[in-house]
Amino acid sequence: MRISNRTIEEVKAKSDIVEIVGEYTRLERRGANWWGCCPFHNEKTPSFNIMPEKNIYHCFGCGVSGTVISFVMEMEKIPFTEAVESLAKKAGIEVIYEGGSGPQENGKKEDETRKLLLELYDRTAGTFHFLLTESKLGGPARAYLQDRAVSGQTIRDFRLGFAPADRRWLYRFLRKKGYSPEFLEKSGLFSKRWPEICVFAGRLIFPIADRRGRILAFGGRILAGDGPKYINSGDLPQYKKGETLFGLHLALPHIREQKSVILCEGYMDVMAWHQAGIPNAVAPLGTAFTPEQAKLVHAFASTALLCFDTDAAGRKATYAAMLLCRETGMDVKVLDVRGAGFPDCKDPADILKNHGPEALKKVLETGILDIDYLILNAGAQFDLGTPEGKTKACGYLFPYLAAIDSDVRLESVVARAAAAFGISSQALFSDFQKRKQPSRARAEPVTEGKKPSARKPGAELRAMLAVVANAEFFPKVRGEIHADDLEDPAAKEIFILLEECFRSDALSFDAVLEHCKDGELRSVMTDAYTSGEFSTRAEEIVDDSIRRIQRNVLEKQKAGLIAKIKLAPVSGNSRGETDVDEMIARIREIDGKLKDLKEA
Ligand code: UTP
Ligand code: MN
Repeated sequence: MRISNRTIEEVKAKSDIVEIVGEYTRLERRGANWWGCCPFHNEKTPSFNIMPEKNIYHCFGCGVSGTVISFVMEMEKIPFTEAVESLAKKAGIEVIYEGGSGPQENGKKEDETRKLLLELYDRTAGTFHFLLTESKLGGPARAYLQDRAVSGQTIRDFRLGFAPADRRWLYRFLRKKGYSPEFLEKSGLFSKRWPEICVFAGRLIFPIADRRGRILAFGGRILAGDGPKYINSGDLPQYKKGETLFGLHLALPHIREQKSVILCEGYMDVMAWHQAGIPNAVAPLGTAFTPEQAKLVHAFASTALLCFDTDAAGRKATYAAMLLCRETGMDVKVLDVRGAGFPDCKDPADILKNHGPEALKKVLETGILDIDYLILNAGAQFDLGTPEGKTKACGYLFPYLAAIDSDVRLESVVARAAAAFGISSQALFSDFQKRKQPSRARAEPVTEGKKPSARKPGAELRAMLAVVANAEFFPKVRGEIHADDLEDPAAKEIFILLEECFRSDALSFDAVLEHCKDGELRSVMTDAYTSGEFSTRAEEIVDDSIRRIQRNVLEKQKAGLIAKIKLAPVSGNSRGETDVDEMIARIREIDGKLKDLKEA
């Protein structure tokens, strides 16, 4: 049983691809097409393209492409059927299933499990919310929230709940609703060792939702007795904590509007900001801030305001989050809860409770640029009056400097820090160059090998050295590539030498050496030949070399086309658009060939 083709076509026709994608990344119009930063990989300049008439998208950076349906599948990590159903709902289309109507088994068991778990969490959250707000059982939890000045509105907005202290209550409740013991065992709600015992029993429940507000998991705060302060759901089929942010569904419209996001420590802090009328706050979920989480917010926020604790752990978290935000291209400021002038408060929740919403607004005003924060921190940690202290202060900055990818910014940041540390920019900069941190390398794997300019220097030459060391394979090579395909002059020279030998019917390594007039190249070739590096699995190495060169050629053509497209007229005259379309078609063709080469 599947969704009918008619429904699928209707969904594609009636869904506005620009609007759907626009929920995940900022788009700009250029002629007939729309451009934005790709939501599938990290980038700072837009190479993600939507062609609305064709109803497709394509990223020239990472190569993803597809229809509005595949976009939703990828972004939401949901199966085809669910993507179609959700788009249909949005567009007001009735879904017709083949062989009858109404939702059907979609065959895949995992998808079904995910769906059922979402349903289970939604139901359970509803029940816990009811118990908190309406029942006698929820009394103490209500009193606790009141004591912490959490308003009724906030309780409703976040759908807070209370899990009964009877540790078997939930199990009995859900069994009566018809859930099987096997299913409940996988639900993440119960102890692995004692499957009838709810891990959240007796706790205040913070439902964790996805960006659309669907509840995926729970956090539970202890109210009385012993135990960890918070218990959080682990990863589940419907939930990955590293890819989820607490409060995102409520914050997103405001993040969009203000183009900024507040990153804070925990559940209570997010709620405090929200209650104070500053609703663009989110928090990671009991773990360090991840690159995926940075990606979630960077689509709409150009500035991140970091508001972690001021203790050593908080400073570490601040630094790590700062790097991730900078690497996605956001500007970063650091808020100072301690500096807002309320010595009795350690976090935003305290400030809201003790001094009210206006006080929290003051915290917003404490924001300073990340580099200034780091300079202050360095000054507090190291004795800048001594050479050792200065050296340490510089070392402290290196990871940050490595995360900056604009030379202009780097220069101004270095100057600022150098002045503060009482050293020359020159000295700081050259020390930094000498001891480059791995941070930048960490940012690279996302794009490396995918962006057209990622060819390693010397790859071509190495490929041709492999061929010359196995000259008998050259007839095959010359059938696949041409001398002009080679960019590296030395590689090209080797090709020409081989070709000359081939034509004079004397194809051998020795003959090539004889023909070669360049002494340096002769010695390079001899080294390659005698090292034995290319002598085992020779044919495989030669084939690889051919493919590498062919890939380079295609990447080069592609880069050329992309450069042209970006220069194409912004206000689309009809001729300009046709050119762009044609170029896009050619790029897709190239992508196809590249894919074949990779799979070969
Ligand atoms: P906090 O200890 O600051 O908690 O930890 P909080 O949210 O401010 O709560 P209150 O104010 O003490 O009631 C910050 C975040 O770290 C995670 C939670 O996500 C929490 O919100 N955490 C903390 C845990 O996951 N487990 C813990 O035991 C403690
Ligand atoms: Mn706290």
